[in-house]
Amino acid sequence: MLRVNQTLRTRQRGAAIRRTALRLLDWFDRHARDLPWRRTRDPYAIWVSEIMLQQTQVKTVIPYWTRWMRRLPTLRHLARARASTIHKLWEGLGYYTRVRNLQKAAKVILTRHGGRFPETFDDVLALPGVGRYTAGAICSIAFNQPTPVLDGNVIRVLTRVFGIAGDPRTRTVNARLWTLAEDLVIASRDNATRGRRDACSRLNQSLMELGALVCTPRQPDCGACPLAAHCFARRQGRIEDLPNLRPRPAATRRRFAAFVVHSNGRYLVRRRPEDVVNGHLWEFPNIELNGGSLETAARACLRVKTAAPRPLCTIRHSITRYRITLDAFTVEPEGPLRFTEGRWLTLPELKRLSFPSAHRRILEQLNGVREPRSP
Ligand code: ADE
Repeated sequence: MLRVNQTLRTRQRGAAIRRTALRLLDWFDRHARDLPWRRTRDPYAIWVSEIMLQQTQVKTVIPYWTRWMRRLPTLRHLARARASTIHKLWEGLGYYTRVRNLQKAAKVILTRHGGRFPETFDDVLALPGVGRYTAGAICSIAFNQPTPVLDGNVIRVLTRVFGIAGDPRTRTVNARLWTLAEDLVIASRDNATRGRRDACSRLNQSLMELGALVCTPRQPDCGACPLAAHCFARRQGRIEDLPNLRPRPAATRRRFAAFVVHSNGRYLVRRRPEDVVNGHLWEFPNIELNGGSLETAARACLRVKTAAPRPLCTIRHSITRYRITLDAFTVEPEGPLRFTEGRWLTLPELKRLSFPSAHRRILEQLNGVREPRSP
């Protein structure tokens, strides 16, 4: 009896998976956005799009991807590009290790794979900066392989539709979700034998797309969802409870002061080291404020006494779990600067460099900053 029940459940699950895969494919045929990286099968172009799309929205990525592909149209162009070029092309996207890993991986492909983008999942996964999600996305989208993808959007769709109530970050629930994603993409391939092209590519992208456009975190548009009739969360009125994610730890507030020092038409800037957040990018000298006076902070940062700093602008932004307030000031040193790690550059020179977004916004304020009077 037990065995009969189990067989029945397996059959029902298989039928639910096939039905879901078919509906997703039909929906994607009608509703897929026309995104520039969807017009190509070039694995290099798809890989670049997937790395850019990590932590970044589609509408932000489109102009970056387009500019990148014009400037570095092939793997070889990327492998040979200067560090300053790739950072400039990435400026504003954040998480700059992504772009450094892209270049490292391009070099690996040239040396280990003779310049041909690898086509097996394990070889793609072995590239710097490529995890299970990205390898699955590249192999499915570029090569139509039945490799699953699971990111935040896909997790939301699957936990709601299939009623998976455990925390998706735990090992067992996460493994269950990967299996489900894999069953769906395999079912799409089997459906493809009935005449569908690119079924694995399209099935994975349909899950991403449904999560991004319809099955949104709040107020999902269930009326537009091809899976609504069979969706567990909708039937049970538990849409807002799924996925069952623990609340994020509260954000920590931090305050920094940046100092704009200006002399003879040049500004003092420095380059951040490689191995820190925003590594390799340029910035104005800055320091975290821990309650002392501004003059003390300016002196500690620039290693020289200064006249009272004059407010220039305030920038608020977030990096990971930090809510950062960056107050920028213009300052006039009262003695020779001993700030050895800096460079003095003109505005046009600065504009050609890559800055983290907050410091780029300071730079944008500078067109109006006047030279201090000579002492
Ligand atoms: N997010 C991640 N990959 C994507 C893709 N290929 N299309 C749209 N959104 C995505």
